[in-house]
Amino acid sequence: MGNESENTTDRQQSIYSATLLDHFRNPRNYGGLPSPDIAYEEFNPLCGDRIRIELKISDKRIAAARFVGDGCAISIAAASLLTESVLGSDIDQGEVISGEELVSSLKSDIKPSRMKCALLPLEAFRSCVKIYKRERPSR
Ligand code: FES
Repeated sequence: MGNESENTTDRQQSIYSATLLDHFRNPRNYGGLPSPDIAYEEFNPLCGDRIRIELKISDKRIAAARFVGDGCAISIAAASLLTESVLGSDIDQGEVISGEELVSSLKSDIKPSRMKCALLPLEAFRSCVKIYKRERPSR
């Protein structure tokens, strides 16, 4: 998984917070769902990395949120934090977590050039919400 080695360099240790490194090394909710209700894969055209968000919806609540993908430490950690934060929320609320909140949850100095990495999972999640609202599954 990912195009950054699990053995992060000294440089990464200094620019990435303990939170970011923990979620990169031990991503929460990694792995696909057996039969997701909604799924969407977003990719970063700058590097080709991909993050796919999969959701299970029950009574309009996000009953399961998982991800698969190939990405850098920032995108994997952001996907891990995102899936944790949206779990249990009402999908009709739409924006469960803002881009600002997600980036700040990484507790790292994310440079503008890496902002796309941090927001990649959120873009996939937003597309999932759009699909849900368009299709309005009767469950
Ligand atoms: Fe590709 Fe970060 S370098 S998503």
